[in-house]
Amino acid sequence: MRTPIMAGNWKMNNTNCAAVELAKAVVEGSAGVKGCEIILAPPTTALSVVNEVTKDSPIAVSGQNMYWEESGAFTGEVSAQMLLSCGCEYVILGHSERRGRFGVIEEGFTEELQSVFGDNDATVAKKLKAAADAGLKPIVCCGELLSEREKGMTDAIVGDQVRAFLAGCTTEQLQATTIAYEPVWAIGTGEVCDADEANRVCGLIRGVVAEVAGQEIADAMRILYGGSVKPDNVEGLMALPDIDGGLVGGASLKADSFCALIAAAAKSAGGGCCCCGG
Ligand code: PGA
Repeated sequence: MRTPIMAGNWKMNNTNCAAVELAKAVVEGSAGVKGCEIILAPPTTALSVVNEVTKDSPIAVSGQNMYWEESGAFTGEVSAQMLLSCGCEYVILGHSERRGRFGVIEEGFTEELQSVFGDNDATVAKKLKAAADAGLKPIVCCGELLSEREKGMTDAIVGDQVRAFLAGCTTEQLQATTIAYEPVWAIGTGEVCDADEANRVCGLIRGVVAEVAGQEIADAMRILYGGSVKPDNVEGLMALPDIDGGLVGGASLKADSFCALIAAAAKSAGGGCCCCGG
């Protein structure tokens, strides 16, 4: 039985005052919930203040990105050690908003790309290894563009991304890793992936992990779905066997909706609230 995760990716939202308020509301709103791991990924600037709020609660803090070197002349970047020093336990890597996939898809579809930061399969693989070696737990994202889905390329694209970032990983690195399946067309659009289809792709990812790392590691690995997860669709997603939680953007920016997602994930795992039984 895998413990589900509900992770809130705040992206580039919330100054420190707003971040503290939101974190406090999530701590309060999720108090007593059992059976679900809760993660908050504020912007880098707010990591320390959010950690101050969450440190006596079961809520973990995550970075949204990092660089693979420990230190040096890398203006604007943060290292795994820096994230650890802010209290991070997790780090999100290879989010589609950071990936650049030019050259992989045909000309004419490039305007669909949201990425401006140039992460790619090779750099994400380096980041994963550096993060895990430093003691962070990477949440590594993969997912197809709409144009790729329309051409029937979803399984090939997602499979290739997962093989690329898991290649050469040690058992320890693999055991630290969580994967998030995030179809790019579902992110921030309100257009959630059909639950059965999301479960199918998460199952496909688990199959690739088994191929690369063995069945035991694949069975233990949490595979999340991300892309327009909301209180009104979360139960359908969480009910399916290969979806072990959510990576949530928009609905994590309000404590009420994020706490509703946490409660649904806990319930799906047979947990729930120790206070109200809900
Ligand atoms: P969304 O974002 O929930 O706003 O679609 C998900 C993500 O980007 O992780």
